[in-house]
Amino acid sequence: MNSFNSTNPTNTKNLLEVDNLRVNFKTPDGFVTAVNDLNFTLAQGETLGIVGESGSGKSQTAFALMGLLAQNGVIEGEARFEGRDILSLNEKEMNRIRSKEIAMIFQDPMTSLNPYMKVGQQLMEVLVLHKKMSKSEAFDASVRMLDAVKMPEARKRMNMYPHEFSGGMRQRVMIAMALLCEPKLLIADEPTTALDVTVQAQILTLLNELKDDFNTAIVMITHDLGVVAGLCDKVLVMYAGQTMEYGTAEDVFYHPTHPYTQGLLKAIPRLDSVGSELATIPGNPPNLLNLPSGCPFQPRCEFAQDHCATKIPKLEAFASGQLRACHKPTDGWVS
Ligand SMILES: Nc1ncnc2c1ncn2[C@@H]1O[C@H](COP(=O)(O)OP(=O)(O)OP(=O)(O)O)[C@@H](O)[C@H]1O
Ligand SMILES: [Mg+2]
Repeated sequence: MNSFNSTNPTNTKNLLEVDNLRVNFKTPDGFVTAVNDLNFTLAQGETLGIVGESGSGKSQTAFALMGLLAQNGVIEGEARFEGRDILSLNEKEMNRIRSKEIAMIFQDPMTSLNPYMKVGQQLMEVLVLHKKMSKSEAFDASVRMLDAVKMPEARKRMNMYPHEFSGGMRQRVMIAMALLCEPKLLIADEPTTALDVTVQAQILTLLNELKDDFNTAIVMITHDLGVVAGLCDKVLVMYAGQTMEYGTAEDVFYHPTHPYTQGLLKAIPRLDSVGSELATIPGNPPNLLNLPSGCPFQPRCEFAQDHCATKIPKLEAFASGQLRACHKPTDGWVS
């Protein structure tokens, strides 16, 4: 194990340990590796941000952990949740863990809310099913949870249908639903992408408060490094299914060492640069069926040298503590 993984700054036992997670998809044109040897750990109450552009493998990582991969997906590696490999569980065992131990929030709340059922009914159903509560207990607990996610007039809204809620309110319902069974781990896949900036900020503040109140570990998936800034303890930067950089949020934000991370950071809109053009990383992420040779980022990297196209960089500890996969020499490298 590398130095970053084995050092546990909070000195608590890991809740989740992901070892060499690989997700391959069988397609008519051959195998696609959407997640390529991913390693990370998460302690109780800790928040990890997984960041990368579209197609980098973020959602497939989440789906693999939740046992929700498409039929043509094949998983390799291990993901130990409280010491038990959840990748090898059967559907029944995984069902027991989903919602109760690990819950997920999806990008579009309407994909997981039933449009024909009142919100209250949907919340209560989770508690009746997983916590064996009576209807009246489930009603009270659901109202309390809607209050906890700062839903105005919670009691009244129990009786409303999802379409009667705004996008931000629906996302609050999703968060309430995910937290109902007090899961130890919450996986949030782009929970704010569909929302406008103000509502986005409110939801992030809410998640920040909830993680303290409930001591929930969170895997926060986003393409926006700005989103994880105030929320995460650790950050894993993904590109073409691979880890480019992994470290504490502080190291990754203040001393980014990978050109890809540096590019993502430059693309965050800042209040002090309103009006000026936002830097974007030139080019597009690669086609997974036809990955570039060597480092997958090299065709877009301004520092690329000849050997970057022939040798795949290993994920190695960088001086300041984080891990990075890049050939650029260490000295004079920190920006
Ligand atoms: N069932 C499938 N069969 C083949 N390839 C798939 C399948 N599902 C996903 N992929 C591929 O896996 C890669 C990673 O997808 P993933 O959904 O994890 O990306 P992402 O990082 O979540 O992107 P986004 O930010 O757009 O949500 C993509 O190239 C996608 O086309
Ligand atoms: Mg996704």
